[in-house]
Amino acid sequence: MNAVSLPPIERFARLTALLAEWQAVWRPLPFQHRHLPWEAHLPGLAEALLALDEEAVARWQDAPFAASPLAAWLPVDELATLVNLPALPADRDEPPGAWGEHIGGRKWQQIAAFVARTRVHPGEPLVEWCAGKGHLARTLARVHDRATIGLEWQASLCQAGAGLAERQGAAVTLAQQDVMVDEATHWLDDETHVAALHACGDLHARLIELAAEHAGAVTLAPCCYHRTAAQRYRPLSQHGRRLAAEQGLTLARDDLALAVQETVTAPRGDRRRREQANAWRLGFDRLQREVRGVDAYLPVPSLAYGRLPETFAGFCRWAAAQKGLDLPAHLDWSAFERAGRRRLVEVTRLELVRHLFRRPLEVWLALDRLLRLEEAGFSVELGTFCARELTPRNLLLRARS
Ligand SMILES: C[S@@+](CC[C@H](N)C(=O)[O-])C[C@H]1O[C@@H](n2cnc3c(N)ncnc32)[C@H](O)[C@@H]1O
Repeated sequence: MNAVSLPPIERFARLTALLAEWQAVWRPLPFQHRHLPWEAHLPGLAEALLALDEEAVARWQDAPFAASPLAAWLPVDELATLVNLPALPADRDEPPGAWGEHIGGRKWQQIAAFVARTRVHPGEPLVEWCAGKGHLARTLARVHDRATIGLEWQASLCQAGAGLAERQGAAVTLAQQDVMVDEATHWLDDETHVAALHACGDLHARLIELAAEHAGAVTLAPCCYHRTAAQRYRPLSQHGRRLAAEQGLTLARDDLALAVQETVTAPRGDRRRREQANAWRLGFDRLQREVRGVDAYLPVPSLAYGRLPETFAGFCRWAAAQKGLDLPAHLDWSAFERAGRRRLVEVTRLELVRHLFRRPLEVWLALDRLLRLEEAGFSVELGTFCARELTPRNLLLRARS
């Protein structure tokens, strides 16, 4: 059987087994460990990674499965097979580009691709979940010439969205609604088709739970699985809970962040700033281990964009203050800064191991959602709705009861 047509239940079973078997390899963050726990069990792997040049690192960051040098240690080919999902074909032409004014270029292209793959049946009520300004709701309303409701809890977004809908003559009502409360159910009935593009963790999990009881169809591109109140992931499907328990696959909230780690390549300037921030954090890590005399990672809060101090010393003083750490008056700042840069080169290479498991984890989480809806009696398809370059969160679940 080819990978694309592998039944979801088989795909899920193999992914569960592989994620469980290799969790000691993909879970530890190289950023936090001076020596990774797996190094002793996989002799030669760390050395092979550390020997890679810049060009090779960039290549395998971009395409982790293609002729990977990790295949000598890790199940690269099977993982590649298991993440190979069908590209869902469009059922209709994409809506005209002019409809996308007021929407960023990439966002509009995602909406256009999503809408072209949303199968709306005659007469079924349409609801967009966590709609923001209702860009998706507006596009669905215009394509299907149908009144559409967008649920959004921020009044300002509802207002802005109502203005856009009026200007475009789209029959959209943006209802100010917290989807997490009981009243959210009132917007759904057995016929409703709920669409959600990039609704985060708990928000889309809530959609699935409510839709399982009160909707006729769901079209969902999930996002940010780690944005969830629970510290520990509880699979949505019964099958997922059973299999994860059998195989010993446990996922903490922080583990889930791996599933969305791939981002569209940032502009060169942003990338350079991010690299500098990371190198400084690693330089501070070296410094704090020495100052404290404790060879252990110390988490430092993240800094909002543009708030990074001007110099490495300034950054370390800020980080030390956050952690209540007294720094000696005299320190060889440039030596620690250089150590941070050297460490970043290593960490970037060691991270390639985790890259290999990123898409498998994302597909596993999407399959758990698919199985939850199947258990509720829906027929569900999972595939991609657009190219990865448009958004790496390009998985689409199409479910109908
Ligand atoms: C990631 S955005 C997605 C917006 C839109 N679907 C898109 O793709 O641009 C999530 C939206 O959910 C809204 N939101 C967050 N929590 C919510 C809640 N509990 N109830 C309703 N909307 C919520 C946010 O205000 C935000 O507009």
